[in-house]
Amino acid sequence: MKKKALIFGVTGQDGAYLSKFLLNKNYVVHGVIRRSSSINTFRLNDVYKEPFAKKRNFVLHYGDVTDSLSVLNIIEKVRPTEIYNLAAQSHVAVSFDIPEYTTNADALGTLRILEAIVKVDKKIKFYQAGSSEMFGKVVEKPQNENTPFYPRSPYGVAKVYSYWITLNYRESYKLFACNGILFNHESPLRGETFVTKKVVKGLCRIKNNKQKKLYLGNLYSKRDWGHAEDYVVAMWKMLQNKVPDDFVICTGKQYTIKKFINLVAKKLKIKIKWRGKGINEKAYDQNNNCIIECHQRYFRPAEVDTLQGDYSKAKKVLKWKPKKNLEDLINDMISYELKQISK
Ligand code: NAP
Ligand code: GDD
Repeated sequence: MKKKALIFGVTGQDGAYLSKFLLNKNYVVHGVIRRSSSINTFRLNDVYKEPFAKKRNFVLHYGDVTDSLSVLNIIEKVRPTEIYNLAAQSHVAVSFDIPEYTTNADALGTLRILEAIVKVDKKIKFYQAGSSEMFGKVVEKPQNENTPFYPRSPYGVAKVYSYWITLNYRESYKLFACNGILFNHESPLRGETFVTKKVVKGLCRIKNNKQKKLYLGNLYSKRDWGHAEDYVVAMWKMLQNKVPDDFVICTGKQYTIKKFINLVAKKLKIKIKWRGKGINEKAYDQNNNCIIECHQRYFRPAEVDTLQGDYSKAKKVLKWKPKKNLEDLINDMISYELKQISK
């Protein structure tokens, strides 16, 4: 019998990479999508090919993690071997604008899935998409599985709830439930409003005279960026481990947003010069055109200044390590963007 995976959040960046990975491992993959007035399955174009074939290995269901009935009904109908909860309002800045919805989806959504597992079949394995945002105002560097949490946003707080409720259901009901504590991971399929995608897309368009300027926020926060393609492998490995456990997944390397911009500009052969300070800091190209400015709109009420992880436990127990470095990531993202522009 083929293994069956159910992915909440299948239409997102990680959902798309995970679907592809599991299909290659010969799983039947079921995904939960939300009804939307515009098509939201573009990341799945590669895998969602034969929606009406008799024997499908990729099946989509309408549902929402804020709707307990849909969560329970889908799990009961699919009876999966493994559930991956990737569903979330995943934008940190937006979580300050819609804190109640973010909490409903990102915290209570996890509880709804765990309750449904307890009701339907306690043997279903569960992966929870935890985040380095839970470390927030970090209390030690680098961060590992034992580092205390100090979230800095409604998103981070909701993810901390999900972390503990996952651990609590593991201990209370002996579920095979794991928390991945994933640091930032990016790819050509990254959402358009996250900083790496904004920078790569913006600079590619500026290079090709499709756009004049890019507006950003804090240039000095530091992130540990990996490639989503590597990180979905870690999710799967957690559920194949002998015992359920929690793992930090990261690269161990850290860069500022400004350094990321400089690396992308260099690859695109845009010679940039920075002038000014604070919110007035701007980047100019070789013709002295201002191509990057900061805008108050993109600063957050509370910032996570620095994130850098330690993946020693995942390396030792799961035999996982990242394959792609920041240069590979930037190359991947640039070549995708340039292809989009030339289409
Ligand atoms: P993403 O691209 O924003 O995808 C989020 C997914 O969740 C989308 O499929 C979205 O559907 C779905 N979703 C949102 N609200 C939902 C709801 N109420 N019910 C059902 N589905 C809902 O995020 P990602 O980058 O793939 O990240 C996947 C997960 O990992 C998220 O939980 C995120 O918080 C977490 N995480 C991400 C990172 C990272 O750096 N990428 C790091 C740590 C943790 P629509 O397409 O309809 O919006
Ligand atoms: N989004 C965005 N847009 N961020 C900007 C901008 C901008 O114009 N300018 C500067 N930044 C800074 C943010 O203030 C933050 O310090 C950093 O760039 C990264 O922002 P994002 O790319 O939005 O990612 P994030 O770190 O806040 O959150 C992502 O990673 C988390 C894991 O640590 C998301 O994927 C979360 O869902 C994930 O949990």
